[in-house]
Amino acid sequence: MKVAICSDHGGYELKMRLIPFIEELGHTVFDFGCYGTASVDYPDYAFPMAEAVARGEFERGVAVCGTGIGVSICCNKVRGVRCALCGDVLSAELTRRHNDSNVLAMGGRIIGVETGKAIAAAWLGTEFDGGRHEGRIAKITEYENRDNE
Ligand code: RB5
Repeated sequence: MKVAICSDHGGYELKMRLIPFIEELGHTVFDFGCYGTASVDYPDYAFPMAEAVARGEFERGVAVCGTGIGVSICCNKVRGVRCALCGDVLSAELTRRHNDSNVLAMGGRIIGVETGKAIAAAWLGTEFDGGRHEGRIAKITEYENRDNE
């Protein structure tokens, strides 16, 4: 799969460990930045990455900041993106099976590298269950596409 990835400074170190790991799993990874540990603003990286996923240029996206919360808030404001903030493997698996999440958010200051890798592997390797969950996803899409008043 083509996987987009981004971070701010708080997620930079975990992101840099995830990139070769995800490539070893057989995926192609494009890094939307940031490119170092100097302080930056996570929306500057999360929005462009999430928009590229929403446009279909990447099948999935991974966003990392200190807690994972800032990037997940940004990503979930982009129409067509369903971003799941995960700190454990079971949530990563279930959000793929139930929510068909297309962006994974993680907190580089919250979880360790090995946990981050395990979460990423589970999330990238799990398919959407479909079935009863399809109507729920359709309701999210319907809400996103409603006329804003
Ligand atoms: C940056 O200090 C930090 O606020 C950011 O990485 C993230 O945790 C925000 O949600």
